Parts: sequence; structure tokens; C-alpha cells
Amino acid sequence: MSILPTISFAKPTTIKKGVAILLAGEGALQDGQGGDIDPSGVLVRAAETATFKGKKKESFNVLAPHGSAAERIIVIGIGKLDELTNADWLAFGGVAKAMVGDAPIVTLLPHDAMGADEASLLAQGFWLRAYSFKKYKKTPKPGDKEERKGQKLTIQCADAAAAKKKWGDDEGVARGVMLARDLVNEPANILGPEEFASRAGALDALGVDVEILTEKDMKKLGMGALLGVAQGSVRPPRMVVMKWNGGKAKDKPIAFIGKGVTFDTGGISIKPSAGMEDMKGDMGGAAAVTGLMHALAARKAKVNVIGIIGLVENMPDANAQRPGDIVTSMSGQTIEVINTDAEGRLVLADALTYCGEKYKPQMMINLATLTGAIMVALGKHYAGLFSNNDDLAAQLTAAGEATGERVWRMPIGPEYDKMIDSKFADMKNIGGRWGGSCTAAQFLKRFVGETPWAHLDIAGTAMASPANDINTSWGSGYGVRLLDQLVADVYEA
Ligand code: BES
Ligand code: MN
Ligand code: ZN
Repeated sequence: MSILPTISFAKPTTIKKGVAILLAGEGALQDGQGGDIDPSGVLVRAAETATFKGKKKESFNVLAPHGSAAERIIVIGIGKLDELTNADWLAFGGVAKAMVGDAPIVTLLPHDAMGADEASLLAQGFWLRAYSFKKYKKTPKPGDKEERKGQKLTIQCADAAAAKKKWGDDEGVARGVMLARDLVNEPANILGPEEFASRAGALDALGVDVEILTEKDMKKLGMGALLGVAQGSVRPPRMVVMKWNGGKAKDKPIAFIGKGVTFDTGGISIKPSAGMEDMKGDMGGAAAVTGLMHALAARKAKVNVIGIIGLVENMPDANAQRPGDIVTSMSGQTIEVINTDAEGRLVLADALTYCGEKYKPQMMINLATLTGAIMVALGKHYAGLFSNNDDLAAQLTAAGEATGERVWRMPIGPEYDKMIDSKFADMKNIGGRWGGSCTAAQFLKRFVGETPWAHLDIAGTAMASPANDINTSWGSGYGVRLLDQLVADVYEA
């Protein structure tokens, strides 16, 4: 992981050195606003020269004004003050990080619109933007800038104590996001099912109870759908159950389930080679669940949570399953495997059944890089949301707007159900050319019973999504903040 800036919060005071960051609302940079960091009053003129209007995320940079204790002043626009969302404050933090680079001492000056919660969000945005995955960049090239270490960001705000307390939570969430990014960025030779499971096992340090099911355990449980996918790989599958008991003992848990295909070649229905390297990220759902468990445990969420991830590698091999094979899932339902590349739903089928039967959760949400078709439908800015419960769908949509990890509801229904009926078995694992994301969701629905459930198809958002203010990494960590927000808003309220 990247070297993260040290964050602190302080009451407003005069600064002595380093880079100063000033926030300015729309049209609000006035004479004297720079105070003692701008004794000669250059900022207003500099803003004019830069045609700075204080619009959201607009910015400019001034070098060492005469008589200032700051070496550099950066002004960042925050737009209309009555319109600011949490996602905006995160973005301002990200813009701030991009502007200051590796400058060792950075102070963000107070602003009336920035209370304790906003200050903490800003710090979170700064951190998330600071993330980069350089683990395998070992040999510096001539001309490379040496990464400076030990950046310190101080955020000045009136209620510094409250900001610090909030950061205690937000820091945990940021670390959860970065854990998910690390897992997605890691190549598949390093991170197979066993290695992923042992990384998840490390969550016990935070008080998460982690149980790892082996192939033998899964055979006993009758998980024929998951095991059929795994049988083409020399690397054995794993299922990891993570439990966080932060609620009352009698409270039914909520559950999150993730697709963890550590590499998806397609199996015997092999994928074309161009771009196949991206399939190291086919465990983005499992990464999000693991990152979420980290986040919830780190901030000691007052709720009982189960996280389950199904970990397999989908390979073509002499022992791999064939198109036409019929497998029996843990639920007892049989599946004709028409296409071995539609493997994620096979893994999830058994993970969902296991979760529902064993833990009887009040609600289940699964995350999966499930279909290429979801990107055709929605592009890479929204995850596809499928649900059997309108309240849950609305709550997820609201959490998406609040965090900027947006979802868009897609349909399920009897028409799609018919498309996956099979000639030989209870169902087949693909539904034909049209509505590929919908038939995949419909398949999953056959394994959730009456439990309120949502499926998030994150094929477009978990990896290789366009860089933004708070993420420049290939693996985005999508889903961790979204679900953390949902838990806080709905299940801890
Ligand atoms: N892991 C893929 C989906 C995917 C594709 C994720 C591109 C991210 C980027 C999934 O296992 C898959 O192969 N789906 C097939 C389904 C098809 C065989 C019905 C697809 O989308 O082509
Ligand atoms: Mn596949
Ligand atoms: Zn896949």
C-alpha cells in the first residue's frame, strides 16, 4: 500500500510553514480572506488572473506571497454552500491531494461551511486520492521522481476534537476501501483462493471471527455448483465466512456475499486473449465484502454482519467441467452448465444458499463482477442493482447518491426466469443473447428464497473504471463506502 499522509485536526491558528489550502465558495474570495498567510493581499488579484470563480473543484496555486509564512497557497472552489453533499467533501479532499502532490507540510484552513464531519470526509478524500499500488514497481527508471515520505496534513476547524473522533470512523472505512483496491490490483499468480482466504483471515486482528471452508467441507455441504467451477484449477477453492457481532445477541444478522473468481479464463468456454488480464479483477465482489468487513469492524459498527466470499479460479484443464455438464447445487436444484464462462453465478448460487440456510439473515446483498452486459447497459459509472425488495432497492439507491458509488435499478421477472429453463436440468446457466445481466440476476434469485435480497453487478465499477477525484487506481474498491453507508443509515440508525 501507498505511504499514507498523517492526518491531524487542529483549532484555527496561524500557520508557520508549508503549503496552505484555502477553500472558497462561489464568488466568495474577498479582500483579506487569506488573513496572515496573505499579508500583501495578492490572492484576490491572483484569483482574477486565474479567472477563478469559486465553482466546485476549480483551483489555483500561488507561490510564496511576500511576507507569508506559507511557501505556497492553493485555493480550491467549493461552489454554492447550500448544495454541498458528502461526496463533494470527499472530492475536495481528493482535489487538495492532487494539488499539493508530495509537499511535506500541508495545512487546510478553516471554512464556515466545513464542520467536523466535513473536515473528516475531506481527510478521507485526501487519503483515497493518495492511494497507489506500487508494490511491483521495483526498478526506478531514470528521471523518476523519488517519492517523498512523511506528508503531514493538518485540517483546521473549530471543533477539532469532534473531527478527530469522526476521523476515527472514516479512517477505518478508507482502510477498508484500500484493502479492497489492493486485493483487486493484486495479480492472480500471487492471489489465488488460498491466498485471498488468508488475507481475509487477517481481519481477526480487528475482532472479526473468520472461518475458512475447504474443498472437503464444501463437498460435505453439497456445493456442486461452486466445486464444478473449481475443478479445472490446480488451486483449491475456499469459502470464507467473516462474522462481526457488533449488535445485540438477539438481532438477526445482515449478510454480504461476494464473487471471488481470482482469475476467470472462461474455462473450456475460453475467453478471447485480448484483455483477458483484466480477469484478475473478477474477485471484485469478494474484495468489496472483505473491505466492508474491515470498515465495519474498524469503526465498531453496532450491527451483526456476516460476510461470505466464494473463492475459485476458473481454468480450462483436463479435469475442467464441460459445456453440457449438469451439477447439483447445495440447494438441491440442478444446473446445466451451457457455458463455463458464466461461472460467477455458479459460485454465488452455493454461497447464497449456504448463507441463507445457515445464518437466516434479515437481508442479503451480493456483489459480483458478473456480466460484461452490465457495461453495455450502464457504462462504468453505475453498478446494476437487482432486487426482490423495493425498500432495500430504495435504500441502496439513496446510499449510492450519498457516497457517489451509484447504482441503477434493473429488472427481474418471470420473462427472464423462462429464459433460463433447461431441457435437461432445473435450469441452465445462461439465458441467451439478450438481457444477459437480467438473466444472470434471475438465476441468482433462484437461490435466495424469501429473504430480502439485492444483487449488485459491479463488472463496470470494480475495476478499470475512469479515474476520478478520489480514485486513480485500477481496482476502485467500489462497494465498500456504498454498503458502509447503507449499514449506518438503515441498520444502525
Ligand atoms: N467475469 C465475467 C464478467 C466480466 C466481463 C466482468 C468483463 C468484468 C469485465 C463473467 O464471468 C463472464 O464471463 N460473463 C459472461 C457471461 C456469458 C458467458 C453469459 C459475459 O459477460 O460475457
Ligand atoms: Mn466468466
Ligand atoms: Zn467471471
